[in-house]
Amino acid sequence: MCGIVAFTGNKDAVPVLLGGLFRLEYRGYDSAGIALQNICAAPANTIPAGDLQAGRAQAAQTQPAHQPQPGGSQAVGHPPLHIIKRVGKVAELRKALEDAHLSGAFYTGIGHTRWATHGAPSEANAHPHCDCSQTIAVVHNGIIENYAQLRQELQGAGHRFVSQTDTEVVAHLIEQEYQVAPGKLMQAVRRTVARLSGSFALAICHSAHPGQLVVTRNDSPLALGTCPDGAIAASDTPALIEHTRQVYYLNDRDLAVLHQNGHIEFFDPAGTPSTPTAVTIEWDLEDAQRGGYADFMLKEISEQPRVIKDTLAGRLDASQGRLLFEELALSHQELAAADRVVIVACGTSYHAGLIGKDLIETWARLPVEVEVSSEFRYRNPLLTPQSLVIAISQSGETADTLEAVKLARRAGAHVIALTNVVGSRITMEANEVILIKAHLEIAVAATKSFLAQVALLTLLAMHLARQRGQACDKQVLDLYRHMQQLPIQISEILANTTSIERCAQECSHAQTALFIGRGVGATTCYEGALKLKEISYLHAEAFAAGEIKHGPIALINPDGLADPAAQTPVIAVACKSATYDKMLANIEEMLARGAKVIALATVGDARISELTPHVIFIPETPECLSPILASVPLQLFARFIAVARGANVDQPRNLAKSVTVE
Ligand code: AGP
Repeated sequence: MCGIVAFTGNKDAVPVLLGGLFRLEYRGYDSAGIALQNICAAPANTIPAGDLQAGRAQAAQTQPAHQPQPGGSQAVGHPPLHIIKRVGKVAELRKALEDAHLSGAFYTGIGHTRWATHGAPSEANAHPHCDCSQTIAVVHNGIIENYAQLRQELQGAGHRFVSQTDTEVVAHLIEQEYQVAPGKLMQAVRRTVARLSGSFALAICHSAHPGQLVVTRNDSPLALGTCPDGAIAASDTPALIEHTRQVYYLNDRDLAVLHQNGHIEFFDPAGTPSTPTAVTIEWDLEDAQRGGYADFMLKEISEQPRVIKDTLAGRLDASQGRLLFEELALSHQELAAADRVVIVACGTSYHAGLIGKDLIETWARLPVEVEVSSEFRYRNPLLTPQSLVIAISQSGETADTLEAVKLARRAGAHVIALTNVVGSRITMEANEVILIKAHLEIAVAATKSFLAQVALLTLLAMHLARQRGQACDKQVLDLYRHMQQLPIQISEILANTTSIERCAQECSHAQTALFIGRGVGATTCYEGALKLKEISYLHAEAFAAGEIKHGPIALINPDGLADPAAQTPVIAVACKSATYDKMLANIEEMLARGAKVIALATVGDARISELTPHVIFIPETPECLSPILASVPLQLFARFIAVARGANVDQPRNLAKSVTVE
């Protein structure tokens, strides 16, 4: 996940920037880079000794200068920016900086850790990105959704691009705007921001604006503040906390100009000066890395609205009623010729696959099998060159799933990997890779990666349906419109967790818990039960509700009829669906045998409240999207129980985040 640090002040910026980037390492990244203004406007007695000329000469070798475009904004009379980037760790960037012998008199700069989204991890794609004449450097977190269109326009105007990133358009756009009003950097950034859609946090420096940085954001975090030696901005609190505890948060598309003396000017999107209020950070560093949340699992659950937004970003071509999966090279004909889909995965990823099966079969009318990788790899599965294999793995390193992929490739099948980790082994084994947009997941229990997998599979299922002529524009647009509601709906669930916590408290002493549901509701239950057992150690099993009469109902403790303390908890996913009435009948069967039924229902459902006092309501959504919403309270339910039972939520016993052995 990308990270930004920007500093200007009266001391060497390099240790501040590198220190901040090190602090952000826990978020995960694949490359790092830094841009330094080769200008020291600080008082002479604070300038470290060193030979600036020598530094410049050597730094110039770290990245060849681009050819300025005709009319480029070359900052005449100003030393060029020094830009150094490395694939790999921040430690490698530090080494590259040491090797460049830059003498240390660099008081203003921007730094970045990149988690690849557009373009592979490489030096060319690492940030900072520059304009044609390398006078402007930009670091960016987020996704510029309209980058393709902007890039085409800028290329048409003569701008030359050197990376595959969405970010590079920002530097060229600023260059273009700066030419309209030379000397007005903030205005150029402001006009650039007005043309961007998507999410972004940006930090920008210009060689003709010594000791100045411009920052802005939209839908992506950025905090900034004055510190004893200058002013600092960062995408995450850990990078700021040792410099200042008084921070400002910008509203969407607001801008700030950071000056070397620590002064910060704030502007609204129209360029009118504004005066935000500073907030005091009270967390310590460890808290800050968890963003103030009690544990990473809770933090990651809370990040899910953003994950869904990122998953949707750039996937719709509304004018054509099409979903965009540009990473898939399969032709229309190849997709039409596919005879079936085989999904392989483990654990939570397997549950996402089960939901994918339902959607692909319903919409694309393609037969789908889902198999746990550890079984698939030891069978002799039926695969042909027309089989489409989808391997799902958050980590991209799960040994069984990797072997399943190799087996499928040997059998001639076409393998698409869905993973969260750029450069993971699965990305090297599969024919094609689709990255889910969950960003780094630290807690062992998969939460946000599950939602990202399900959301992506939902889009992919509709894409397959459209490609195979089974769905029309309207279905695509309707689905996308409903999915756009999900981030707000998840936020609503997260904003009121009282009923979830109350239900969890009631169940925390139970010996066993059962989960029942139908259709995608049953799959939601499989995942809910896995979450509960893995982090709280409370035994939990999930069943398709129609199956309970065939055995599992014997698990209900009949003592519960007389003694509420003996009631077996049954979590019933009973959202509005085609099988809703059947679910009510199943709930009644459980209640009649003394179970404590906790129902997950659609908001406004009065019938369910007549059956049980324990109801967790979720916002209304089409049945196909209900697993995305219903999973959130189940994640929280598991976590509340784990906390009540004193378990280590982030690192449950016997488990590892990625299972790289059989
Ligand atoms: C889920 O909470 C688990 N930690 C586990 O089931 C996990 O989903 C499984 O090990 C698969 O991992 P992967 O997605 O990284 O392949």
